[in-house]
Amino acid sequence: MTDRAIALREEGRDIISLSVGEPDFDTPPHVLAAAHAALEAGLTKYTPVGGTSQLKRAAAHHFRRDLGIDVPISQITVSAGGKQAIFHALLATVSEGEEVVVPSPWWVSYPEMIRFAGGKVVPLRTSPKDNFRFSPADFEAQIGPRTQWLMLNSPGNPTGACYPAEMLLGIAEVLRRNPRVMVLSDDIYAPLNYTGGGHATLAALCPDLADRVLTISGVSKSHAMTGFRIGLAAGPEWLIRAMERLQSHSSGNPCSISQAAAVAALEGPQEFLSQWRERFRARRDQVVAAINAIPGLSTPTPDGAFYCMIDASPLMERFGDDTALALHILEHGVAIVPASAFGGRDGFRISFAADEARLDEALRRIAKALAA
Ligand SMILES: Cc1ncc(COP(=O)(O)O)c(C=O)c1O
Repeated sequence: MTDRAIALREEGRDIISLSVGEPDFDTPPHVLAAAHAALEAGLTKYTPVGGTSQLKRAAAHHFRRDLGIDVPISQITVSAGGKQAIFHALLATVSEGEEVVVPSPWWVSYPEMIRFAGGKVVPLRTSPKDNFRFSPADFEAQIGPRTQWLMLNSPGNPTGACYPAEMLLGIAEVLRRNPRVMVLSDDIYAPLNYTGGGHATLAALCPDLADRVLTISGVSKSHAMTGFRIGLAAGPEWLIRAMERLQSHSSGNPCSISQAAAVAALEGPQEFLSQWRERFRARRDQVVAAINAIPGLSTPTPDGAFYCMIDASPLMERFGDDTALALHILEHGVAIVPASAFGGRDGFRISFAADEARLDEALRRIAKALAA
């Protein structure tokens, strides 16, 4: 898909990319200023492997203020993006043949990381009619003697699924009956919850389970800082130490300049986050209305993140599979990602992290491509 998109662009075609997983907003100026100041101050040397004490303190503040999780800094670590934190957590814990339950459609990196660590991916299928959320009973049915982790991503990529507190409490009951299972709660999209009910997360709701939950957060998606590569993790101290040991022998500390920028992001003004959220919410409504008006396409309204998982099953007879459909839409000037890339099928994911006019034009092109 990417190769074809590049080739079309080289031919001079205008391709709108709705495949990206990052906010289109600029990184806030106060964050950039903090990065500049760190350079000027000579903060260009090694830092502690798991992050500076300033950033760990800012992260502890963030976990308490934004997620309701009260953790000391000894239970926090910082890595080069949420991605690295998840990878290290799985590498540090998953042994050959251990099982990890992953709701599908899933974020593309989960299954690759699990398999790299020697683990077995146990898919937990979700459906658009349930807004892509699994029930506690669905989860319990997938647990076996070798189940080690549940990957719980809320708000979710690629579906926008959000788990409200009452669903998390149901999942917690299952966990209490299955004491061996841990939860990797990937909350990287936490500020982008459009339900009005606020973000709910397991470690805050159920302190009795906190020593079995690793919560992932960061600044990449929330503060438009994907290139800075800063991810945060809070969890049991033994796991945090194991992740830091791995990090010390692989990449070492996260970038010192990025850490200073992340302190500014977490300690500085947060009001713009709600303005960004409102922009994303309006774009979501724009996308959902336009998609549901195109014959053959349908989508539930995603509750969070900036993705929409679209069902195109009525079009499969015409196109064969969702990759062929995605290539067809690409020929009409829009890059999207087929659902099969996420362990789904017969559909595609749109990212609405693009400005309103480009989104409008992209949706027009998709309608035209499918009418053709
Ligand atoms: C669900 C999910 N988790 C984690 C990440 C990793 O984010 P980061 O850029 O901080 O590594 C992403 C990024 O796409 C994501 O979509």
